[in-house]
Amino acid sequence: MYYPDEIVEEVRTRNDIVDVVSQYVNLKKKGANYFGLCPFHNEKSPSFSVSPGKQMYYCFGCGAGGNVLTFVMEYENYSFVEALKSLADRAGITLPEAEYSKEARAQADLKNVLLEINRLAANYFYYQFKQPAGRVGYEYFKNRGLSDTTIRHFGLGYSNKTPDDLYRFMKEKGYKDSILKETGLFFIEERGARDKFWNRVMFPILDVNNRVIGFGGRVMGKGEPKYLNSPETRLFDKSRNLYGLNFARTSRQRYMLICEGYMDVIAMHQAGFTNAVASLGTAFTAQHALLLKRYADQVVLTYDSDGAGVKAALRAIPILKEAGLSVKVLSMKPYKDPDEFIKNLGREEFQKRIDEAINSFMFEISVLRRSYDMQDPESKTAFYRETAKKLLEFPEKLERDAYTEAVAREYMIPPEDLKRLVASFGGRIGTGKGSSSDARQPGARRKKEKDDGIKKSQRLLLTWLIERPELFEKIEGIIGPEDFVDGLYREVAGMVYEAHKNGTINPAHILNHFIEGEEQYREVAALFHASLADSLNNEEQKKAFSETVKKIKRNSLDVQSREAASAAQLQAIIKRQSELSNLRIELD
Ligand code: UTP
Ligand code: MN
Repeated sequence: MYYPDEIVEEVRTRNDIVDVVSQYVNLKKKGANYFGLCPFHNEKSPSFSVSPGKQMYYCFGCGAGGNVLTFVMEYENYSFVEALKSLADRAGITLPEAEYSKEARAQADLKNVLLEINRLAANYFYYQFKQPAGRVGYEYFKNRGLSDTTIRHFGLGYSNKTPDDLYRFMKEKGYKDSILKETGLFFIEERGARDKFWNRVMFPILDVNNRVIGFGGRVMGKGEPKYLNSPETRLFDKSRNLYGLNFARTSRQRYMLICEGYMDVIAMHQAGFTNAVASLGTAFTAQHALLLKRYADQVVLTYDSDGAGVKAALRAIPILKEAGLSVKVLSMKPYKDPDEFIKNLGREEFQKRIDEAINSFMFEISVLRRSYDMQDPESKTAFYRETAKKLLEFPEKLERDAYTEAVAREYMIPPEDLKRLVASFGGRIGTGKGSSSDARQPGARRKKEKDDGIKKSQRLLLTWLIERPELFEKIEGIIGPEDFVDGLYREVAGMVYEAHKNGTINPAHILNHFIEGEEQYREVAALFHASLADSLNNEEQKKAFSETVKKIKRNSLDVQSREAASAAQLQAIIKRQSELSNLRIELD
């Protein structure tokens, strides 16, 4: 912990979780809790709950959970310290200078130092434009039609021909090789050090919080590779960042334009389409899609019109739809990419193409159509069949019919005939699809189920103890923290028991202790939410309580007996095991 517990706790308690989450998620009150659509996975009905009593959130759909600090960490992609600072600001708390141990300081600072170096490097590259030797870079961008405003807005720059000047610049500033190595900006070897980017125009890559996390560099003219990108580093996770999103997120449009490259994003922004983003030198991922879903509900794909672009679009469509985004595809013809299109036909024409963009399903069918010879009856029939099968992707009849009609119109197929063909395939699909989900051996499966069952019991008991502290009396002398056999569970149980002894149990506070441990907090959060929805009021659940307690104890004794060191010890355990079967725990 870099900050004392009291400070972290003050920041936490001064930021009410319902208030903070409400800034990002539309919450509705239901009973004691609030519900909304989970921001961490795509869903249509709300399973994301926020408990004002516990000051925690939990998603029954994807298992995301935590307190106000972890919420901001996950949502903003912040580190613990960044989240703490932002919430302290929000509540008007001035954080004291953190108490650092030497190693802790190194850890905490490393990310900040890397950001600082990147920021310096971006400034350095920009500054080169003003130097005689950097004029070529500036002119390259000017020749590609960029204004001075655009160049400054995107912080573009130039890495000059001297092979190690950026390195020397950083050394003069006092940075050590060990740190410089981690930036991905240098090759540092025994023989000496060199800059990674050399004689290229430079594109700094910013995250949504406008921090420089990496770079792309383009050769001026011909050369391989055309673009060189920073490797993934502590700061730069390619599947979690989109170029241009720092600007696009505030464009206040309901849709985003997705393209392939740096220059496309820049050309579109310069033409006023400030909602354009690109996935950089990497394929579009589900994480990208969820990131976009935070800011928009529609996307228009503006990928290149060549084969690779079509392939990329076909790959991205299902990923985007899975995230709950509706997808359209823009036709760039006869130009290759948005940059060339806008340069040749201008912004009004581009806006027209956006308005005319076709629905992703119609796009998929049009691509399919290209591989069939419509002059040949056999090939043509095969195309109809494939199309009919694809139409079955729509589970709802109304939607399926609407698409069937649209396809029939587009390809001049009598609509009733196409509907009949779809129906004929529909009968066959969904039958005879035996599930082959669990191919593990039965023994292994049974063991896993048993483990899951015991963990679930432990979670249930912890949740109940927090919700109804009077239950501690019922289990006194029967279950102690040591009976929670999983390491993490035992640690949490210890804190819960301790807190109970001292007065009140505060789960959100307990969670503070796990925030920095490799997403351990998710598991801990789940521990407190085993049954947020139902409480212990009916007969069935009273019975469940008794059984849960016994199950945990039985398992704990099993573990002890396996580890028993002496015959006498084993005897004692066996005695307790037999007592357990006669044990009755009555609620009320
Ligand atoms: P393109 O080859 O389509 O280039 O690559 P472009 O965007 O049209 O670039 P200009 O107009 O010639 O300058 C699209 C994107 O793929 C990545 C880059 O992000 C690029 O913007 N890429 C391409 C690489 O990462 N490395 C490469 O060698 C090429
Ligand atoms: Mn281009």
